[in-house]
Amino acid sequence: MASHGKVKVGIIGSQFEADIHAASFQLMPEEAEVVAAASPTPAHVEAFAKKYNIPRVFLDYREMIKERDIEMITIAAPNLLHAQMTIDCARAGKHVVCEKPLCMTLDEADEMIAVCRERGVLLMYAEELFFTPKYVRAKEMADLGAFGEIYLVKQCEKHFGPHSDWFWDVKRSGGGVFMDMGCHGLAFCSWFLNRPKVKSIFCQMGTYVHHGKTIGEDDCICIVEFENGARGLIENSWARRGGMDDRIEVYGSGGLTYGTLHIGIASPTYSETGYDYAVEKAPTTTGWSFPVYEELWNYGFPHEMRHFARCVRGKEEPAATGEDGRLVMELLYAGYESARRGAKVDIPFHPGAAKRPIELWKGPLD
Ligand SMILES: NC(=O)c1ccc[n+]([C@@H]2O[C@H](COP(=O)([O-])OP(=O)(O)OC[C@H]3O[C@@H](n4cnc5c(N)ncnc54)[C@H](O)[C@@H]3O)[C@@H](O)[C@H]2O)c1
Repeated sequence: MASHGKVKVGIIGSQFEADIHAASFQLMPEEAEVVAAASPTPAHVEAFAKKYNIPRVFLDYREMIKERDIEMITIAAPNLLHAQMTIDCARAGKHVVCEKPLCMTLDEADEMIAVCRERGVLLMYAEELFFTPKYVRAKEMADLGAFGEIYLVKQCEKHFGPHSDWFWDVKRSGGGVFMDMGCHGLAFCSWFLNRPKVKSIFCQMGTYVHHGKTIGEDDCICIVEFENGARGLIENSWARRGGMDDRIEVYGSGGLTYGTLHIGIASPTYSETGYDYAVEKAPTTTGWSFPVYEELWNYGFPHEMRHFARCVRGKEEPAATGEDGRLVMELLYAGYESARRGAKVDIPFHPGAAKRPIELWKGPLD
């Protein structure tokens, strides 16, 4: 493998998030190039490779990771597959970027971390909110003391539900919206506050709109208490109409800041005929709509992938690691346990033998 030049990347997956990875490497192309993609549906992976000019295509990722020149793999496949894929990549000597949530169980998280360490490869956790330019700026101001002692960090991510069937099937996803998007808020609040220990978590959740489609929760409110006295408030929904909304609020003894990534920066627009695209998961562009611009850049996906490639070259230290992903997994389990009990749950929390986080709320699924 090379020790200089662009990092050679293989992507696992060819749909929604794989597209974001490939587009991000193209938006910031100095550090890395995508040389291969692997995904089991021939038509999908071929179309994906054509769109991004990716020279090598595989239907089985285990074949792709035999390619000697590939240095870093990004995993954009369903949650259920993250652990095995990470372990296989690490054993093949590849650095790993794993999408959120890290995996399904704490045992899997521990094994992923251990195998990557043993094999001397990096396990990088794809939490783009650590790279979102607006949120990074808010954190810089917080770290400078602009808001005094921070007592509340709030992160919300909401839309009307995911694009692929497997998200709704909690056996394959591990949970509903708390698992899917609460993982962002949990990571964000910890990171924003410079990772103080977590004391407790409380969640209230339910299936309010999508009965019949999933047994997973489609709306969740979560409060995290940190040992430094601050709290995180995380709101997630698959029941919010009108397209994606992602926002933060930060409150301290000396000030506050608000940040929004979608409606708050969009151009209020009215169209009788509609147009191509407004924002992720918006159902229509006719009538009033709120088109965003530079969507990936505003999220920080290109910054994230560039950073991970620089880590492979030893130019930076990973800002989002397997340990961040593991903490999120522990909090997800404890959050579902809290929803079942209707009470706060202390951290550290050991989930026992459950195969999926949501089972602590719903009971065993198989
Ligand atoms: N960071 C974010 O904001 C964000 C956003 C969306 C999704 N994600 C995460 O990305 C991952 C993928 O989600 P998605 O939205 O792209 O889902 P998707 O359904 O759009 O795509 C899943 C992809 O995985 C592929 N796949 C399935 N089985 C495979 C296998 N055995 N080997 C190789 N590829 C396989 C499918 O062919 C498909 O290309 C999930 O873990 C999800 O949570 C993260």
